[in-house]
Amino acid sequence: MSTIFKKQVERYISYFEDKLHKYMQPMHIKPAILQESIEYSLFAGGKRIRPILMYAVTEIVGGDMQNVSNFAIAMEMIHTYSLIHDDLPAMDNANMRRNLPTNHIRFGEGQAVLAGDALLSEAFSICMQESLLGEEYRQAGICLAQCAGIYGMVAGQAADIFYQNRTDSVNEENLQFIHLHKTGKLIIASLLIPAYLQKVDATILHHFYAFGDYLGKIYQFTDDLLDIQGSNKLLGKDIGLDAKTNKLAATSVYGKEGCQKLLQEYQQKAMSILDSMPLQTDFLKDFLQYLLDRKK
Ligand code: IPE
Ligand code: IPE
Ligand code: MG
Ligand code: MG
Ligand code: MG
Repeated sequence: MSTIFKKQVERYISYFEDKLHKYMQPMHIKPAILQESIEYSLFAGGKRIRPILMYAVTEIVGGDMQNVSNFAIAMEMIHTYSLIHDDLPAMDNANMRRNLPTNHIRFGEGQAVLAGDALLSEAFSICMQESLLGEEYRQAGICLAQCAGIYGMVAGQAADIFYQNRTDSVNEENLQFIHLHKTGKLIIASLLIPAYLQKVDATILHHFYAFGDYLGKIYQFTDDLLDIQGSNKLLGKDIGLDAKTNKLAATSVYGKEGCQKLLQEYQQKAMSILDSMPLQTDFLKDFLQYLLDRKK
């Protein structure tokens, strides 16, 4: 990873952490346990890849980082809620997340469900506030809602659970549905939201969507591989859960080598989309490599 790329990532993360702290700091949520359980997961040290992408695209399309910041907070709230719920015994039954005991292990299942609900509701309160700023902000809010809910992450999670233990349903089509929705859609929204805010033309939006689709695949293929061969210390979460819970994972459709091959193909396709865009996309090229190399 080049020093320039690393520095840029650090700049985005510290900008985001500052905004998130400033947003949460004046809150005095009652009962205090709700605040504690929300902050426990929100500040546990996620990689913040979605906010990073949002700031990167903002700069690529000539926007102002300040304008996308509240959406970045809403995005990270939705992502964090999705992880809290994903870890519940009713879903993946995980014990570790972001190097800590999962939210329900620490606070109990009921509080964990509610911490997730609260984060989701707060995210949409932010979107409503932002939508008062103009049409482009409304578009961005709708994009986040659609990518998070029925047409997005929730649909992917529903499919992920539905296909669990169904050995007759292990095929590419089902896998692609799961990956595009549970992971791809929030990544796609991270690219589209800043593009909407800057009112880019339809062709550019289309390219960002296609690129985000590959980014999501690359992200989730790597996640599925790391579930088999990663380190739980580095990842900060349980490994081996996909096999244990009989998930329809990329490795169950293609095997480890097949996944590696496809990852290379997806990288090339994603690169050629970036090359076809009339924008300075070096950061996104490096980001692809960062996702492919990641161990945590
Ligand atoms: C984990 O997301 C869930 C998936 C979509 C595979 P991240 O890997 O982005 O989790 P954090 O935010 O860094 O903890
Ligand atoms: C979860 O996918 C994706 C979402 C939370 C939307 P996984 O179940 O594979 O994520 P990890 O491996 O627990 O992080
Ligand atoms: Mg899951
Ligand atoms: Mg999981
Ligand atoms: Mg996983």
